[in-house]
Amino acid sequence: MRKLKIRHPIPYPIQIGFDLEVPQATGPRAMIFDLAVQNYAKKLAARLDISAGLGLPGGESVKSLATYGKALSWLAGQALPRDTTLYIVGGGSLTDLGGFMAATYLRGVRYISLPTTTLAVVDASLGNKTGINLPEGKNLVGAFHAPEGVYADLETLKTLPQYTFRQGLVEAFKHGLIAGDELLVNVEPLSLDWEGFENYLARAVSVKLQIVEADPTEQNERRKLNLGHTLAHALEGATFGVMPHGVAVAYGLLFAALLGRAHGGHDLVPAVLKLLHWLAPPPPPRFNWDDLTPFLNRDKKKVGKALNWVVPKDMGWLEIHPVLQEVLLGCYEEFLSLVATLSTEPSRPAESQRG
Ligand SMILES: NC(=O)c1ccc[n+]([C@@H]2O[C@H](COP(=O)([O-])OP(=O)(O)OC[C@H]3O[C@@H](n4cnc5c(N)ncnc54)[C@H](O)[C@@H]3O)[C@@H](O)[C@H]2O)c1
Repeated sequence: MRKLKIRHPIPYPIQIGFDLEVPQATGPRAMIFDLAVQNYAKKLAARLDISAGLGLPGGESVKSLATYGKALSWLAGQALPRDTTLYIVGGGSLTDLGGFMAATYLRGVRYISLPTTTLAVVDASLGNKTGINLPEGKNLVGAFHAPEGVYADLETLKTLPQYTFRQGLVEAFKHGLIAGDELLVNVEPLSLDWEGFENYLARAVSVKLQIVEADPTEQNERRKLNLGHTLAHALEGATFGVMPHGVAVAYGLLFAALLGRAHGGHDLVPAVLKLLHWLAPPPPPRFNWDDLTPFLNRDKKKVGKALNWVVPKDMGWLEIHPVLQEVLLGCYEEFLSLVATLSTEPSRPAESQRG
């Protein structure tokens, strides 16, 4: 088991591995859990003597105003007071929703996150961002609210479909590019059964922790975490959310690598192509740049009229600045040709196996 700690702005422990020491909070305890991991959640609830439990289906649709309202009413219906600790067991959708419930119920109660997807382990459960979606867009309502601790029990990952398992690790690959960590960009050996996996996850988590500690509310340093996300969000928007986030980020990283190369940086394109071969996603629709522009214009990283791109000049060396339109168009042409070569690859891996 690996023990880490975030020190700033609010310190809390993080454990990753097997046989974790999940604490039994003093005072009233409640749990919301993803139905996909209900056996694990129920065993944990029994061990920690938590009698109030609400199971919800995972997936993006759980981050709705309607579910948020119902889940808060459930807490109120249990007459849970201000000193309650809410345990949240599930993927990023549940940790986002549950964290936001904890941030707002009775003006804020304590919570403990137990992430059960690779994405939630390396990204969503860390960094104190909580929130839900509106019909108008993703993550439009939220709050910064720190948990009491994050406990990632790798036992839970055993039931993840392989494709979901791999998609979550795209963010870990991204952390590798940001930090210049060669181990993190080497995704091929990754599987839950690989003995270095716990160490791999801990390294990916450490990168996010360092960035969050340096810039908890995304004023500066934290913008690095948006590497690959500008095109990714546009692809997600243009496909009406059909393209999964991990796939969109993998394509976004390819585009970012092309931007880096066009700005005279070290060629990171082969490394990202390796990631895409490993992930084997379906090809993206062949959008024209103009199809993506309305979605790019809504990007949260836009300051005034200029859209800032995170441009990787090398592993561990990122620049953030606007990019000339002709460079964007040229890189997008290259992107489409590269993606077309990928789509001739064998289809994506079977859902039944991990790793
Ligand atoms: N707050 C943040 O900083 C942050 C960062 C990145 C992503 N996110 C959010 O995370 C969400 C995506 O998270 P996700 O990819 O974990 O998706 P998810 O939570 O929707 O889970 C994906 C699917 O896996 C199922 N599942 C969960 N755990 C399982 C397990 N152990 N075995 C089998 N199935 C399991 C879920 O029921 C769901 O169907 C998005 O809403 C995104 O906005 C938040």
